[in-house]
Amino acid sequence: MAALRYLTAGESHGPALTVIVEGMVAGLPLKAEDLDEQLARRQKGHGRGGRMAIEKDRAAILSGIRGGKTLGSPICLQIENRDWKNWSTIMAAGAEADLMGRRVTQPRPGHADLAGAIKYAQRDIRNILERSSARETAARVAAGAVARRFLAELGIGVCSHVTAIGDAAAVGGIIDRTESDWVRLAAQAEQSTVRCADSALEQAMISAIDRAKSAGDSLGGVIELAVLGLPVGVGSHVQSDRRLDGRIAGAMMAIPAIKGVEIGLGFAAALRPGSQVHDEIGYDRESGYGRRTNRAGGIEGGISNGAPVVVRIAMKPIPTLYQPLMTVDIDSRQPVAASVERSDTCAVPAAAVVAEAVLALVVADSLLETTGGDTLAQVRERVAAMREQALRF
Ligand SMILES: Cc1cc2nc3c(=O)[nH]c(=O)nc-3n(C[C@H](O)[C@H](O)[C@H](O)COP(=O)(O)O)c2cc1C
Repeated sequence: MAALRYLTAGESHGPALTVIVEGMVAGLPLKAEDLDEQLARRQKGHGRGGRMAIEKDRAAILSGIRGGKTLGSPICLQIENRDWKNWSTIMAAGAEADLMGRRVTQPRPGHADLAGAIKYAQRDIRNILERSSARETAARVAAGAVARRFLAELGIGVCSHVTAIGDAAAVGGIIDRTESDWVRLAAQAEQSTVRCADSALEQAMISAIDRAKSAGDSLGGVIELAVLGLPVGVGSHVQSDRRLDGRIAGAMMAIPAIKGVEIGLGFAAALRPGSQVHDEIGYDRESGYGRRTNRAGGIEGGISNGAPVVVRIAMKPIPTLYQPLMTVDIDSRQPVAASVERSDTCAVPAAAVVAEAVLALVVADSLLETTGGDTLAQVRERVAAMREQALRF
């Protein structure tokens, strides 16, 4: 069983999204603003659709926190869907509304629509798309905000930047960044409407999104993430399900529309000889063991090695197209244009915030598994001991 787990519930146009976070230690200072700050970051970004103008996400804390600190009990968070008032008849839990004439019957290619409708034997595709919608990721961001807060208390940070939107892409990757390089990069990305730290590339990304929008098309992209300050020894080589890289990859692929994950050099490592892939080990009296390069992306043998953990993910273009692709109507079985739900043109900047949240949750879980402990003070002591062990080894 995971040390830190979470479960979300809620339909896209239902009354609310809910998430229960279980396993967080007692004594962590946590305010509603910590959660709302992350929710607001997810809502930004050039290329978002009309829905984000309606929703101003805020998390209500229903349990697990008292007097500004966690209790060690399950933390239940709820995010109201403001759009619910426009959908309360169609989305009512009761059977009073006649929904026959309001069914969605034209599955969108690239979405869960058709496979989900067949699997759950639903003649109204809304019964699938309401839950497969990435609105659910707001709940993951709220849960991730708890994990982020916890990691921050231990000197561990998670950050990201966008390196490509469509074919507006950074040339070559620099993966040997130091922690301070990452901090600078992330601060620049935070100021950008596409979360891109390079201003020339940022303009190219914005134009690419605008062009796609006018063509009724959509765009994906690439996001790079880093975990900073992680001590040596999180994750383990001893069992496949304890490897940190495996857990990160699984969690990243479980974000809607994420279709590729790399750690460190990733796919590029396959094209180089070993002498240009592995990071030589050095030793310094002050800082202990270290590397000049970080091609491994901070993980060796499934264990964090003290360097920044570098993760790259690929997001496919949004499947809902305002110039829809062809599909088949599930009533008539005739070719038709796919249905259109209100949609983003590009959600790569938002997905970066979702990915940061998911990464924080995975790292907090693996860290807690290593340290144990029921209070923040106990974990703090254990993390200090891990850092000391790496330094004195
Ligand atoms: C932050 C975020 C926002 C998204 N917004 C939309 C959207 O507005 N319209 C849409 O069709 N898909 C959107 N998606 C993608 C779909 O949720 C996703 O493609 C779909 O659930 C099918 O899952 P799959 O792509 O993993 O196969 C978004 C994804 C993320 C991460």
